[in-house]
Amino acid sequence: MAQPVERNLGLDLVRVTETAALGAARWLGRGNKEAVDQAAVDAMRLHLSTIAVDGIVVIGEGEKDSAPMLYNGERVGSLEGMAVDVAVDPIDGTTLTASGLPGAISVIALSEGHGSMYAPGPLVYMDKIAVGPEAAGVIDLEAPVDENLKRVAKANGKAIGDLRILILDRPRNQHYVDAVREAGARISLFRDGDVAAAIATAQQHHQADIMLGIGGSPEAVLAAAAMKCVGGEIQCKLWPRDESERDQAQEEGLDLNGVMTTDDLVASENVFFAATGVTGGEFLRAVQFRAEDQVITHSVIMRSKTGSIRYMDAFHDLGRLRAISSLTID
Ligand code: FBP
Repeated sequence: MAQPVERNLGLDLVRVTETAALGAARWLGRGNKEAVDQAAVDAMRLHLSTIAVDGIVVIGEGEKDSAPMLYNGERVGSLEGMAVDVAVDPIDGTTLTASGLPGAISVIALSEGHGSMYAPGPLVYMDKIAVGPEAAGVIDLEAPVDENLKRVAKANGKAIGDLRILILDRPRNQHYVDAVREAGARISLFRDGDVAAAIATAQQHHQADIMLGIGGSPEAVLAAAAMKCVGGEIQCKLWPRDESERDQAQEEGLDLNGVMTTDDLVASENVFFAATGVTGGEFLRAVQFRAEDQVITHSVIMRSKTGSIRYMDAFHDLGRLRAISSLTID
C-alpha cells in the first residue's frame, strides 16, 4: 500500500530563516554585530513557535544564563508532533553582515529524535574536513593533507592542480594553507561562514572540492545536517585552544583524539535543513530591498529522506507583514 505523503518540515523552516535574514539585513554594514544577531534571533524565535514539532534546541545561542532566547535546552515549536533536536545559527557571519561583506547566511536544521544531534561541550572549535557526495567515503581527517587531496582528486575526476580547497582564513589554519600549496592545489580563503563553505563542496556550480580547517563546533553540527541531506561527508575533531581547554576536556572526559563522523554529529536519518542568504555570496543571494517595503530573499531547503534540494526566491511585502505580525523589520 502507498505510504501517506509526509510533511516536508523544511518548507516551514525556510520561513524561519527568511525572517531572520530579513531582520538582520537591515543592519547591513552598520558596524553593530550584536544588533545583527539580536534582530535575527528575535525573528527566528517568533516563527519557530509555529512549527509543529516538539523541539529541543541543541545548537543555539549559548547557555540559558547568557542567552535569553534560543538557548541550549530550550523547548521550541508547538510542542506537539515529531520529537526533534534543533540547531540554529540565526546568522553565520555576523561580522560579515555588520561589515556589509558577502557570505552571511541564516541557518536552521532539525533532526528526528531528542538526543539525535551532538551537543558541543565547552570546546568551541573543531578541526574539520568536508566534501561533496562524489568524494564521500574517501577522506580521512587524520591522513596527511596531500593524501586527502589525491583521494578527492581521484573521486572528483580532477587533477590535483585543478582542485579548489576552501579554508577559513585564520592563523590557526596556516598549516593547511601551506600543505595545500605544497601539494599544488588551488585555495580560496574565506573570512567567515564555514557552514556555507562546507555545503559549497556539494554544489557543482561552486567548483569547490574540500572545506578544510579549524572553525566553530556548532557550525560543524549544522554542516553535518546539510551533508546528510546532500550526501556529502564531514569529519571533525575537538580542537582545544590552549592548555586550560585541554585540561577541561580531560576533566570532562572528552575524547580529543576521536574523529567524529557525519553520523556522530547528526545520528538521525530524518533531517531537515533550511538557509537564507543575508549578504549574498557564492551560495545564496543577498536580501534585496526594493521600493516601498518590497523585499526578496533567496533560500535553500533540503530534506535527507528524499534528497530533495529546493532553491526558493520569496517576495515579501513588509507593509502587509507588519499589519498581521508583531515582527518589526525596520
Ligand atoms: P559568527 O557569525 O558566529 O561570528 O560565526 C562566523 C564563523 O566564521 C563561523 O562560520 C566559524 O565556524 C567561526 O566563526 C569561526 O570562529 P572564529 O571567528 O572565532 O575563528
